[in-house]
Amino acid sequence: ARPTLIAPSILSSDFSRLGDEVETVARAGADWIHLDVMDGHFVPNITFGPPIIKAIRDRTDKVFDCHLMIAPADPYLAAFADAGCDIITVHAEAGPHLHRSLQTIRNLGKKAGVSLNPSTPENVLEYVLDELDLVLLMTVNPGFGGQAFIPSVVEKVRRIKALIGDRPIDIEIDGGVSPETAGAVVAAGANVLVAGSAVFKGDGEEAYARNIAAIRQA
Ligand code: DX5
Ligand code: ZN
Repeated sequence: ARPTLIAPSILSSDFSRLGDEVETVARAGADWIHLDVMDGHFVPNITFGPPIIKAIRDRTDKVFDCHLMIAPADPYLAAFADAGCDIITVHAEAGPHLHRSLQTIRNLGKKAGVSLNPSTPENVLEYVLDELDLVLLMTVNPGFGGQAFIPSVVEKVRRIKALIGDRPIDIEIDGGVSPETAGAVVAAGANVLVAGSAVFKGDGEEAYARNIAAIRQA
């Protein structure tokens, strides 16, 4: 079995010290750095875009896992690739041409992901499985950190695991991941866990390392 990866979301970090926070959480044991991009249109919140990502890119060599909660996404894919994202994930709900978006991301030389909101059924993945490197399942409604985990998504993880078969596609969980909820989603087939508030709790490398270890243990 593949090892479970932890991808801390910098959404819950101290934005006034963003570069240091990225460095610290990388040293504390993060596998990937999860970047939550929000546009105030697809989701009811606004975060950051390519210039900020570019500014923190040289603070770590960890994988930059970029979660685009923007619509449309296609006009901005090249900018996020140029900024240094390694994985670019678009929402299935964000546009009518999912297949094209995924092809564009791969043509930019990046790994392509699809995210599904809690209410979106998994069958939207059926005809894009060969264009996919990652499925990002929302276990909260996207827009904010610190929300409660929606348990009905655990069954969806199981179904997607079956749909994927032996293709090399990561299943990533995002929202409300904590030592209490991590076990169930990993048992169902998830292999990457995003965690914001559960990682950036307390201050500094020791606290983050403890928080990451607690999720890994679960
Ligand atoms: C929500 C974001 C998540 C969020 C997770 O829209 O996509 O990545 O930051 O935060 P927690 O782990 O606090 O639920
Ligand atoms: Zn996210």
